[in-house]
Amino acid sequence: MGGGVGGTSERAVARLPRALPVRRLVIASGGGIGAALMPAWAAWLCTNYEVELRFALTRSAARLVSPRALAAICGARTYVDGDDSGPVPAHLRLARFGEALIVAPATANLIGKLAAGVADDLVSTVVLCFEGPTVVIPSLPPGASGKPAVLRNVQQLRADGYHVPALARGRSLATGEDGLGAMLDLPAALAALETACARARLTGVGAHKLEPRRRPTEGLRRKGRQRSRKPRRRLRTESTGGGSYR
Ligand SMILES: Cc1cc2nc3c(=O)[nH]c(=O)nc-3n(C[C@H](O)[C@H](O)[C@H](O)COP(=O)(O)O)c2cc1C
Repeated sequence: MGGGVGGTSERAVARLPRALPVRRLVIASGGGIGAALMPAWAAWLCTNYEVELRFALTRSAARLVSPRALAAICGARTYVDGDDSGPVPAHLRLARFGEALIVAPATANLIGKLAAGVADDLVSTVVLCFEGPTVVIPSLPPGASGKPAVLRNVQQLRADGYHVPALARGRSLATGEDGLGAMLDLPAALAALETACARARLTGVGAHKLEPRRRPTEGLRRKGRQRSRKPRRRLRTESTGGGSYR
C-alpha cells in the first residue's frame, strides 16, 4: 500500500473522523478498480455514521462493482447510467438529494469531462447539476499522472471550485508499480469532504445545500460507543477499503 492511501490497519481507522459534516451524501463512481471498494465504503459509512447514501455509477463502474451489493448494504439507492426510470430523472434526484458529493474513483476520462463541462452520462450530469460541495478523488491509470492534459484538467477542476486533493502516491494493482494518482482511502476521502464543506460554509459557495452545522455528539458512532464498544472493536479489524487501486 502506498503512502497517502492508508490501508486496512487500525492506523486507517484512527484517521476516520468522529462525525460527518453531512447527513445525505452522494457518491458518484467512475470505472476505476476503486469502484469495487464502494460496498466497503458504504458499509463503513452507514455502520459508523448517521448518513444516508446514494450512489451513481458510470457504465464502466457498474462492470467493476455490483449495484445490487451497494443497494443491499444499507439500502443505498444506486443508479447506473442508462437505467433511469421514474418521473424525475436520476441526475436531478441525486443532485437534489445530496448535501455533498464525492466523485470516487474519478477516472482520467471523468476528470476530463468534468473539466470541460461535458455531461453525456449520469455521473457527469449529476456533477454538473449538483450545487453543493463536491470532492473529486482521482484514480489515474499508470502513466497518466505525468500527462499535461490530465494535470491541466485537475487544475481546471480546482479553479472551477471542485475540491481535488493532491494526487496520492500508491501502487498500481495492474502493474505493481508505485506511482502518482492512486485513489485515496476512505479516511482521506472523508477528510477532503470535511475540507470541502468547511470551505463552502466559509465562502458561502454551495453552502445552501448543507444543513445547519451538527454538534459532534450527534454522530452515530458516538451513540454506538455509548451503547456498546463491542461492534466497534470488531470493525477495527476490518478493512476501510484503503490502499492503492488503479
Ligand atoms: C479493471 C480496470 C480498472 C481501471 N482503472 C482505471 C483507473 O483507475 N483510472 C482510469 O482513469 N481508468 C481506469 N480504467 C479504464 C476506464 O474504465 C475507462 O477509461 C473507461 O472508459 C472510463 O469510463 P468512465 O469514466 O465513464 O467510468 C480501468 C479499466 C479497467 C477494466
